[in-house]
Amino acid sequence: MCSENVVNPEPVRRGLIGLFLGGGLLATFASFIYPVLRYFVPPQVADLGVDEVVAAKVGDLKPNASAIFRFGSKPGLLILDADGETYHAVSASCTHLGCTVQYKGDAKEIWCPCHNGVYNMNGANVSGPPPRPLQKFNVHVRGDQIFVSRNTEA
Ligand code: FES
Repeated sequence: MCSENVVNPEPVRRGLIGLFLGGGLLATFASFIYPVLRYFVPPQVADLGVDEVVAAKVGDLKPNASAIFRFGSKPGLLILDADGETYHAVSASCTHLGCTVQYKGDAKEIWCPCHNGVYNMNGANVSGPPPRPLQKFNVHVRGDQIFVSRNTEA
């Protein structure tokens, strides 16, 4: 007479096991998909926080060389042309996933070592995964200091 009130625990157990297995499979799938999505969807460009900085002093750079400088919370890249007179300044944060780019003087291009992204001297994306150009800055030489400021013409 007591056996009529006993509930069979088997369907509940199977439901719980199915729930845990499904959750585990979903977590595993997400751990594979998330890095792929991060690779193809670049991060938003953050505000740099300042409008002008002293990037270097005149004479710090040799012709066809570069230097990394701090522009707010982000790195900037200052390049002195091979002519020894023309400066270029761009954000040094790659527009793909934010790695710090570097200047390759032999090829006269800006290169990102993370995924082999290439930009030209003006910061335009030329090849590789970068989806847009590097942010370009204005360069002004005042006295013996090289000032870099935001390009407000955009
Ligand atoms: S971070 Fe991927 S190419 Fe620069």
